[in-house]
Amino acid sequence: MINVDISNIWGSVSLNELLSMEREVFDAHKTLTEGRGPGNDFLGWLNLPTFEQTEEIARIQAAARRIRETSDVLVVVGIGGSYLGPRAAIELVKGQNHNLQKKDPQVFFAGNNLSTRAWQELCQMLEGKDFSVNVISKSGTTTEPAIAFRALKWMLERRYGTEKAKKRIFATTDPSKGALRQMATEEGYETFQIPPDVGGRYSVLTAVGLLPLAVAGLDITEIMFGAAQAKRDMDVRSFENPTWLYAAGRNLLYRKGKAIEMLCSYEPSFRYFAGWWQQLFGESEGKDGKGLFPATAEFTADLHSLGQMIQQGQRNLFETVVRFAPCRKKVPIEMDWKDLDGLNYLEGKTLDFVEEQAFQGTLAAHVDGGVPVMVVQADEICDRTLGELFWFFEQSCGISAYMLGVNPFNQPGVEFYKRNMFQLLGKPGYERK
Ligand code: PA5
Repeated sequence: MINVDISNIWGSVSLNELLSMEREVFDAHKTLTEGRGPGNDFLGWLNLPTFEQTEEIARIQAAARRIRETSDVLVVVGIGGSYLGPRAAIELVKGQNHNLQKKDPQVFFAGNNLSTRAWQELCQMLEGKDFSVNVISKSGTTTEPAIAFRALKWMLERRYGTEKAKKRIFATTDPSKGALRQMATEEGYETFQIPPDVGGRYSVLTAVGLLPLAVAGLDITEIMFGAAQAKRDMDVRSFENPTWLYAAGRNLLYRKGKAIEMLCSYEPSFRYFAGWWQQLFGESEGKDGKGLFPATAEFTADLHSLGQMIQQGQRNLFETVVRFAPCRKKVPIEMDWKDLDGLNYLEGKTLDFVEEQAFQGTLAAHVDGGVPVMVVQADEICDRTLGELFWFFEQSCGISAYMLGVNPFNQPGVEFYKRNMFQLLGKPGYERK
C-alpha cells in the first residue's frame, strides 16, 4: 500500500490551492484512462498489470529457468527504457551487491554506454563463466546496444559454436519491425515482444523487465500482482488516490517556481530506481520549454555533499522522499566498555531507529530551510512493493504530464544527439548537408 504525505508542502502551497486543482487532476486522469490525450497510441502499458498467470509470463519463466540452469551470468544489453527498469528492480530488491551473492546467476548490464574501459571490464568478468545474453531494443537500431550485442554474439559464437550460441541469445524487441527482429528471425533466437504501443520508459512490466528479473531470482508473478493491485487501488477519482496527491503536489510546486524535484531515499539500493524515475519523468515531461528537472539523491550519504545546497542554496527545489517500512530483522547498536567513540548513548537502539531520527531531523531542517517535502510511504521492500511502486510512478507521470500540458509518451529531443553522432560517424543517410 502506498501513501503520499503532503503535510510538509503547506508552507509553499495552501489547502485551497490544492483543492482548486481537483478538476484538473480529474480531467488529466480521465484523459489518460480514456485515451483522449496526445500520445494515446502509446497507452499499452495501462493494460500490462495482471493477476493472471499469462502465457507470456509462463514463457518468460521457462526461458529464465533455462538461463539459470546453463549460465553463471546473464548479460542484459540495452539502454534507456530498455535498461533502467530491470536494473532498478534487481538492485532495489536484491541490493547493489547482488552479483556477489551466490544463489542466483549474476546479471551484468552492457550496451548502455560507449566506454572502452567498461567493455574491457565486462570481458574480464565473463572470463571462465558460462553466460547468456538478453538483448533488448524496441527499435532494434539503437547504436550503443547494437555495438555491444555484435561483440557479445561473437564472443558466444567463439566460445560455444554458432548453433549453441543461438540458444544462449534471447531478443526482446518489437514484434515485427527493426533490425533486431529481423536478425532474431533469421538466426532463430528465442524472442519476446515489446508491444508497439508501449514506450521504452513504460516497458518494465513487459519482458524488458520480467525476463532479467526472473533470471535474477525475483518472483515476477508477485511483481505483477503488486502492480495489478496498485492499478485497482489507484483508480479512485479523488485526493484519496496517492497518484492524485503526488501529481497535484508537484504541479502546484512547479507553478510556484520549484522547478527541480529531487527524489530521495535512505536506501542505497534505491539508486537505480531513482534513475528509472528520472528517465520516466524527464523524458515524459521535459519538452515544449516545460518540465520539472528530475534530480536524485541518496541520503544520508548525499547530505554530506548536497546537503548544504539543499538547505541554503537557491530556493528552486522540492523533495520527494520515498520511505519503506523498516526491515523486520533488527540491528542493535552494542555497548562498548571504553566508549571511546562516545556512542554508548545509543546502546540498545536499532539502526532503524537512528535512520528514522535522521529522516525526521532532515525533514524538519529542509522544511525550515524553505524546501517543501512530499513523502511517499511504501511497504517493506519486496517484489510486490516493487510492482506497486512501478505502477504508482507510471500512473502519476501520465497524469502529471497531462496537467503540465505535454505529450507524456514521445521523446523527440532524444534524436538530436543521435543525428549529430551519426553524421560524425558517417552513417549512410546522415551525410552532412
Ligand atoms: O524511453 C525510451 O523510449 C528510450 O529511452 C528508449 O528506451 C531508448 O532510447 C532505447 O531505445 P530502444 O529500446 O529502441 O533501443
